[in-house]
Amino acid sequence: MSKITAAITSIGGYVPEYRLTNFELEKMVDTNDEWIRTRTGISERRILKGEGLATSDMIVPAIQEILQKKNLDPKEIDCIICATVTPDMVFPATANIVADKIGATNAWGFDLSAACSGFLYGLTTGAGFIESGRYKKVIVAGGDKMSAIIDYTDRNTCVIFGDGAGAVLLEANDEGLGVLDSILKSDGSGRNYLNMKAGGSLKPASIETVTAREHYAYQEGKTVFKFAVKGMADVSAQIMERNNLTADDIAWLVPHQANLRIIDATASRMGLPSEKVMVNIQRYGNTTAGTIPLCLWDWEKQLNKGDNIVLAAFGGGFTWGATWIKWAYNS
Ligand code: UT7
Repeated sequence: MSKITAAITSIGGYVPEYRLTNFELEKMVDTNDEWIRTRTGISERRILKGEGLATSDMIVPAIQEILQKKNLDPKEIDCIICATVTPDMVFPATANIVADKIGATNAWGFDLSAACSGFLYGLTTGAGFIESGRYKKVIVAGGDKMSAIIDYTDRNTCVIFGDGAGAVLLEANDEGLGVLDSILKSDGSGRNYLNMKAGGSLKPASIETVTAREHYAYQEGKTVFKFAVKGMADVSAQIMERNNLTADDIAWLVPHQANLRIIDATASRMGLPSEKVMVNIQRYGNTTAGTIPLCLWDWEKQLNKGDNIVLAAFGGGFTWGATWIKWAYNS
């Protein structure tokens, strides 16, 4: 009997309409378009505007696209994993809210907090559920409304992040396609360099935490940059080596979109030309857990059955990792 693997069989995505351009940011903080483009690669990012809208309102349309493409009844979904650091509420989980909004009444689910590596952590977790034979249809979503935790007076962070979400459907495959290997890492000592200081049990919300602007994302950019360049490149090279993959074997690198210079360093370490690297950071910025599924969503039509794809990420935690998949369908 051939081994069951977990394959991505459909993908959906959502980015809000509103475009926050570098030029608009120039009017908000002491920055400029040239600095942002040359240091990060970003020209604009999307922002979810409007009262009462949250991360689930981006994940829901992403999943609805999958339901429509696959002509799938939401009641057939077994499990929903939502990777996010901007859940609608501290509890209940955004996955519960999403299941309710799409009518997935037979699904259970949970949120997964691994910042920018959240989608990779979720993909590996979801793939395990399929490989074990326990579940048939698992949704893995990654999305963040970063604008909810960004301080638009802090030029160190506000130029980088944007809002967006993507989702994939995982189903069993017996042709050797889908998620084939993953190397996932974490190092909690990195918590000091990229975090949100208040709002958790360590520092519950108070007038003091609000006044000190501790409910916003904090990042020591330079330090995170150094760890990210090394971490993402190392793990991407490792996954190639341990699976005997050469640069010629790889059709696409799908890197987390944090900084074009980190992406370039990873691609160069893997020996990949830029034509094989998915980059949409110029349009969406860093959507945290949303970046990797949004790349797959943007490139879906160019992906072919059997393509070797390496997904790679580095983010807060620190968390990082790389996943090797063989694409399972032609669209
Ligand atoms: O996705 C989660 C993981 N996160 C990452 O991977 C992000 C990693 N870090 C980065 O991408 C980069 O560190 C940043 C894009 C955040 C910053 O780029 P950098 O090249 O590391 O800049 P820097 O922080 O070293 O700052 C260089 C200069 C400083 O001025 P001085 O001290 O040299 O005079 C900053 O004050 O640029 C200044 N600066 C800015 N100037 C204009 C910092 N932010 C800005 C800004 N506009 N927005």
